[in-house]
Amino acid sequence: MTQDKLKHAVAISAIEYVIDGEIIGVGTGSTANFFIDELGKIKHRIKGAVASSEATAARLAGHGIPVYDLNEVSEIAVYIDGADEINAAGHMIKGGGAALTREKIVASVSKQFVCIADGSKLVETLGKFPLPVEVLPMARNAVMRQLAALGGQPKVRTKAGSDEIFVTDNGGNIIDVSGLSITDPVALETTINQIVGVVAVGLFAARGANVCLLGTAEGVRTLK
Ligand code: A5P
Repeated sequence: MTQDKLKHAVAISAIEYVIDGEIIGVGTGSTANFFIDELGKIKHRIKGAVASSEATAARLAGHGIPVYDLNEVSEIAVYIDGADEINAAGHMIKGGGAALTREKIVASVSKQFVCIADGSKLVETLGKFPLPVEVLPMARNAVMRQLAALGGQPKVRTKAGSDEIFVTDNGGNIIDVSGLSITDPVALETTINQIVGVVAVGLFAARGANVCLLGTAEGVRTLK
């Protein structure tokens, strides 16, 4: 089965977690896109959605799903999003698609986080996927020095196929940190959060996933 088929299978399974009449938190990325397309088919059942990126907002709106600003919503029943890596405890690395800050904010007000991913994202130890950190542009080099001191190899993200520095939906930049073996995700998340100039780190550990739907050749596996 192709990776896209696995992503589509978990997106279909995630529909079971959608609560009728509610506003749904929606993530960003290729797996989330499959989910949005499935959500479009049942849009009459929900009140609307809060998006974790401009791209997600546009895709939701394209399906005619009302998109709410988070300031209009006090609590979200369920947040559904992909991950770049996830471990058995539900700790994740996210931000490969550069939406980590808004993803973290929407997840923080959601009662349940349902992670949808193809089976290749499940790892024993997080860190093979370079850890994305969003920073204020003026703090890029200062933050990179501190991330290097933690043992990682930080690199500023550039636009695909160019040397131009990538700019997020929030006007920030992304530092991708490779070479980390993250044995204590909660501690590292706390440490990086404390670096001045960091907007958000793509470690979702203090608030991880409650449920993970993993697409495998044998079917969708549910980890709780
Ligand atoms: C977006 O910033 C990310 O956190 C995505 O959720 C993550 O990169 C997973 O993306 P895919 O579903 O495209 O693999």
